[in-house]
Amino acid sequence: MKYLFIALALMTTIHTMSQEIALPQPQKSGGMSLMEALANRQSTREFNPDSNLSLQQLADLFWAACGYNREDKLTIPTAMNRQEISVYAIMPDGAYQYDAKNNKLVMVTDADLRTLAGMQEYSHKAFLNIAIVSDREKMPHDIFAGTDAGAVMQNIYLWCAANGVGTVTRGSFDGETLGKALKLGEKQQIILVQSVGY
Ligand SMILES: Cc1cc2nc3c(=O)[nH]c(=O)nc-3n(C[C@H](O)[C@H](O)[C@H](O)COP(=O)(O)O)c2cc1C
Repeated sequence: MKYLFIALALMTTIHTMSQEIALPQPQKSGGMSLMEALANRQSTREFNPDSNLSLQQLADLFWAACGYNREDKLTIPTAMNRQEISVYAIMPDGAYQYDAKNNKLVMVTDADLRTLAGMQEYSHKAFLNIAIVSDREKMPHDIFAGTDAGAVMQNIYLWCAANGVGTVTRGSFDGETLGKALKLGEKQQIILVQSVGY
């Protein structure tokens, strides 16, 4: 009986740890014009801890941030087409890596890492914090690692502006602690963390 309980507990853990969120197809038409989104773009630093984003919003946002808009190319340009950027969604029920090819979020931990997402308290209240991560093995040049991450940052800003969602990008976070919690590899570096929510 004891072994049955252990086996069941293990199976539950494995199931939870391998949880994936299949995203709906991103909506790529309609919406606010680019010029209006640019006119609305701004940083906001107040978030309601009880609000959230729908799966459709997550699908649209992550596709805008750095999804594939052609067979093998992204919504962001990357220097030498290294495609070294990955993004992680830090949400109340866990942290996930965005799998752009398969349009899904893959859980890396079921812990709520929002308190590690930034030094400023408002970031702990946002429903979503997006860690913009560079693989420095693929992209050793500091400037290009920064510019490529910046393209993701601006796509997130513009999507938020076009959809009435608040956001602010941040350089203030403890990269080492958050990187460990996100189980990043040695060569992966968090460049920015961006809070998103209402
Ligand atoms: C690379 C970068 C790092 C930033 N880091 C922070 C930060 O750590 N905390 C913060 O509150 N805002 C941060 N910001 C947001 C800026 O403060 C903000 O963009 C600026 O005040 C202009 O305001 P606006 O975005 O509303 O135009 C950062 C912006 C950039 C581009």
